Amino acid sequence: MQPKWMGKCPDCGTWDSMEELTEATADPHRPKAAVSEGASGGRAFLSEDDLPARPIGEIPPFETPRISSGIGEFDRVLGGGVVPGSAILLGGDPGIGKSTLLIQAGEQLARRGSRVLYVTSEESAQQTQLRARRLGAGHEKLLVYAQCNLEKISRQIQKLRPDICMIDSVQMIYQPTNTSPPGSVSQLKDCCSDLIYLAKTGGTAVCLVGHVTKQGMLAGPKLLEHIVDTVLYFEGDTHHDHRIVRCVKNRFGGTLEVGLFRMGQAGLEPVDDAASLFLEPHAEAPSGSVVTAALQGSRVLLVEVQALTAESMLGAARRKVSGCDSGRVAMIIAVLEKRAGLRLVDQDVFVNIVGGIKVTDPSGDAAIALAIAGSAMKRGLPGRALVLAELGLLGEFRGVSNLSQRLGEASRLGFKQVILPARHSANDSAAVKEAQRTMQVHLCQTIDQAVRLLE
Ligand SMILES: Nc1ncnc2c1ncn2[C@@H]1O[C@H](COP(=O)(O)OP(=O)(O)OP(=O)(O)O)[C@@H](O)[C@H]1O
Ligand SMILES: [Mg+2]
Repeated sequence: MQPKWMGKCPDCGTWDSMEELTEATADPHRPKAAVSEGASGGRAFLSEDDLPARPIGEIPPFETPRISSGIGEFDRVLGGGVVPGSAILLGGDPGIGKSTLLIQAGEQLARRGSRVLYVTSEESAQQTQLRARRLGAGHEKLLVYAQCNLEKISRQIQKLRPDICMIDSVQMIYQPTNTSPPGSVSQLKDCCSDLIYLAKTGGTAVCLVGHVTKQGMLAGPKLLEHIVDTVLYFEGDTHHDHRIVRCVKNRFGGTLEVGLFRMGQAGLEPVDDAASLFLEPHAEAPSGSVVTAALQGSRVLLVEVQALTAESMLGAARRKVSGCDSGRVAMIIAVLEKRAGLRLVDQDVFVNIVGGIKVTDPSGDAAIALAIAGSAMKRGLPGRALVLAELGLLGEFRGVSNLSQRLGEASRLGFKQVILPARHSANDSAAVKEAQRTMQVHLCQTIDQAVRLLE
């Protein structure tokens, strides 16, 4: 780099071969796509590069206008819709429905006047069209581009100026100046930072599809999650038809909401009655099955906890957990042994939350405990009781949040019995009294008292 005008190149000696570079173009830290294509000439959105440091109070408030995707459950999990210029990462197991969701959202966005560029790096344009036809998508503003080369993708973005650009998937695209293979850490880093730079400077929202490893993590470096604004994960298993889209990071909204869908012939359909989505109809409560009401964002979902205890053959008892935290289950087993007198040390214990949903809400502790105790004692709860309580190390039942909302859903779905921490009779007496109009309420102080309700 030379600070002044020069006619002859000091390296190769040729005349008139020097090019003028502006300061921004020469910035070595600027993403390559932006440098080669001059992306900063696009619609200025979040670019505040040249502004000096200012007192925080003088910064004008950033209104986050949102584009509705036309799919209520998708908007809900995004915190109200797509924020222009933001970067969204959508992860999930193979075949779970990532491409389906994007094509459906793309079609709805196009129908609402947005220009959508869907870049398919894994499938051909024909394959994408086949899926789109099955899903009833075919709007002229939904553009499909089959490409893996990031430079060409960047050029298309700058030429078309889409409102939303979807990259399916980010693991297959490559920056040609980088010699590492697609999907490698260095490629992912390069490609994502380039795309996000384009998003921020041009006002195009970018939605990246990422694959998930066997451990359920987004393949590639954690860095991907750090550099995007919103991270969404598909949950559920491909053997069942319901799908959950969970938000794990959102710079423009909360992370508690989930989107609930059913996968059908015509694609993903939003679920109307979310509360009962995971509930199988059982007339009686089988031993080892207990229902609890878990809070997912602003919604209550009734979920069935199943447990099985079986004599251990190996000497070392196994604990297998799916859908909840294994450390929490280990604590619950210890509390059952110490505080309720159960002997589980020589028993294998399996715990499963039915339907592939993950429950992190501690109000499900007592349900897990009673499912394990029920299986070990071969007893079930009276009727089909709903259980709501967090379990303390002393075996005490601790209160739960949003009690009246949870009880309301249980009552609406026809539950006749409910087991609650005794402290709610004083703290939330109105909610308990309301529940007593339709349900028999068992108030317990400890897990020991609740275990005695198993019959
Ligand atoms: N003809 C069909 N009829 C009904 N459902 C279908 C049909 N074809 C595919 N599906 C459903 O769509 C799912 C695949 O969805 P999709 O291709 O969107 O998944 P994906 O997450 O993008 O997968 P990948 O990781 O392989 O890209 C299948 O598992 C199946 O449930
Ligand atoms: Mg796909």
